Amino acid sequence: MKLFDVYPLIPVTIAKADGAKLWDENGQEYIDLYGGHAVISIGHTHPHYVRRIKDQLDQIAFYSNSVQIPIQKQYAEKLGELSGYPDYELFLCNSGAEANENAIKLASFATGKSGFIAFSGSFHGRTSGAVALTDNPKIVAPCNAREDFHILPWEDLEAVEEALKSNEIAGIIIEGIQGVNGIQVPSAEFLQGLASLAKKYEAKLILDEVQSGFGRTGKFFAHQLVDGIGPDIISMAKGMGNGFPIGGILISPAFKASYGLLGTTFGGNHLACAAGLAVVEVIEKENLLENASELGEKLLEELKGIAGITAIRGTGLMIGIDLDREAGPVRSELVKKYHMFTGSAAGKNTIRLLPPLNIEWNQLNSFISALKEILSQSPTS
Ligand SMILES: Cc1ncc(COP(=O)(O)O)c(C=O)c1O
Repeated sequence: MKLFDVYPLIPVTIAKADGAKLWDENGQEYIDLYGGHAVISIGHTHPHYVRRIKDQLDQIAFYSNSVQIPIQKQYAEKLGELSGYPDYELFLCNSGAEANENAIKLASFATGKSGFIAFSGSFHGRTSGAVALTDNPKIVAPCNAREDFHILPWEDLEAVEEALKSNEIAGIIIEGIQGVNGIQVPSAEFLQGLASLAKKYEAKLILDEVQSGFGRTGKFFAHQLVDGIGPDIISMAKGMGNGFPIGGILISPAFKASYGLLGTTFGGNHLACAAGLAVVEVIEKENLLENASELGEKLLEELKGIAGITAIRGTGLMIGIDLDREAGPVRSELVKKYHMFTGSAAGKNTIRLLPPLNIEWNQLNSFISALKEILSQSPTS
């Protein structure tokens, strides 16, 4: 049987990983500045993470949500404390799209309305509701398109208020920092404006922190870079499991749970909770938020001086770099000649950096030197 061919592949087979280092099947070492698509938070094969998962596997890997699973409560406790949302409640699922799907469903149940607002450049996932709120018509199938889901211009509070006046909007969804769209940081005024408009018109504010959460920006969630947001729902995945499939939503105390309102077979299983717990324990113990913040600041400063870079966006270790040329050939050269993985973005001139939060400065510095060298040559495309 062949694989359904939907991914354009880099011709490298990764066989081993440790921290921000990767090795291919021939033993060639690479630096991971992409975090396996913004997923690796505490570093590949972190010993505490490996031990927790192995220990859990020896006890029990899975039983359904029909029985008590104490490690779920233990995880919720720790996550609430570390994220700064101890009074929110946690619903666990398996991916980012699924987290957003549950978030919009919950907002719709709570308000009795069906409309949603998202923003230009958004990416919220590929399942039916999430993709209808994603600004990429190429991945929206005819059965996903929704007339009452509105993609409004970025930073346009007037357009948001106009849409809310219809009184048909259940929620507004926005990424803490837009990832796929090349790291676009919402202004404080925009986020605060959305929060107050959502309150005024009794719509729910959903912060999609799937990519920008779990310390990537130097705060636990990106929206915490701005005061006073207090989202109704926060969706999470990617860095949450450091590679183990786990997603979830944090739900404000205003929502009332009832049996059967949400549900999943695999979400919150023993093994996923062990992975999730290991991630938050390491983030706390190794001060990874501070590390992301400090390294990010230093990296942004160094990048500023490089000829060939036309714009830099982001904060912490979530950085978008616009080049004076197409990013594709630059990224290929980074892999082939300098042995470094970076991420692409919607814009063809943009490189995305999303390294593990415990990457070391010398690894980031090697990237800076490589990028300088490549950009000092004339473009190959
Ligand atoms: C902001 C954001 N939301 C949702 C998703 C979807 O997550 P998943 O691929 O785990 O379904 C992504 C994935 O890239 C994302 O970046």
